[in-house]
Amino acid sequence: MDVVLDVGQWEAEERPHEHEFGRRSSSSGSRRVSREYRRPTIEEVALPRSADVRLVARHRDVYEPCDDSFALVDALMADQAHLRELDPKLCVEVGSGSGFVITSLALMIGDQGSTRFLATDLNPTAAEATRETLAAHGVEAETVVTDLLDGLEKHLEKSVDVLLFNPPYVPTEEEDVGGPGAMAAWAGGDRGRTVIDRFLPLVDGLLSPDGWLYMVTLTTNDPQEICRIMKKQGFASRIVIQRQTEEESLQVIKFWRDPAESEKSKEERTFGSLSLKRLAFWRS
Ligand SMILES: C[S@@+](CC[C@H](N)C(=O)[O-])C[C@H]1O[C@@H](n2cnc3c(N)ncnc32)[C@H](O)[C@@H]1O
Repeated sequence: MDVVLDVGQWEAEERPHEHEFGRRSSSSGSRRVSREYRRPTIEEVALPRSADVRLVARHRDVYEPCDDSFALVDALMADQAHLRELDPKLCVEVGSGSGFVITSLALMIGDQGSTRFLATDLNPTAAEATRETLAAHGVEAETVVTDLLDGLEKHLEKSVDVLLFNPPYVPTEEEDVGGPGAMAAWAGGDRGRTVIDRFLPLVDGLLSPDGWLYMVTLTTNDPQEICRIMKKQGFASRIVIQRQTEEESLQVIKFWRDPAESEKSKEERTFGSLSLKRLAFWRS
């Protein structure tokens, strides 16, 4: 896997208030991101920026924007021109927490008229915070309290153009996953993969033919294996941002349908089920 770019390097200089949020409390301790300054291009300056962290709703039980949230928003900003070209009809964030990411995306896409935004979270207080943050920025999205996208699959089937997920990815005891309040934000079970592995099989059913998924991972989550799993479902992938914190390495990976991979995975599925049928016939 290739590291393509890290456009977030200049962000820290330009967001003085980011340092307030620049640490993540978790069982794995706190992290600090080292960044170097890079002068933004004219296009980057001209396009709308992310949500204002000073306007983000804060609740004790809700995950505050942190290094991973900023990395995800920076990945979106790097793709901003393409996102606007894509002209998405439906953008969905799973686990929206404070609402910083979905609000930033809504601001980036801008008033293109017909784009709908939807945010889900397991934590009702997070859904409330998301609503407050959206309102504080004058943008709109539907918010739903649910486990991943439970109950919405039919409604969203193959129609999500932009899907975002900054999952609970910290390796923890399995019993901590989905725990109360802020614990659900970071507790990721074995290798930090419990929630991620429940989410991955949903992606194919959700994304529109040209849809994109942006997901945050840690190196301990084994992002290469995640990309292999997605490849089997017909998705190509690319790391759009990679950042080194004091303790670990964080990636934002972008996934999209690769026609060649889709064809291969279709064949494998057909061939696989045929073999099973033949085996059943041979047995009987
Ligand atoms: C790492 S935080 C990210 C918050 C926000 N997206 C951000 O980037 O700042 C993960 C979020 O996912 C939510 N979450 C955890 N498990 C979930 C699940 N099974 N379904 C929906 N949301 C979940 C948590 O409540 C938390 O708000």
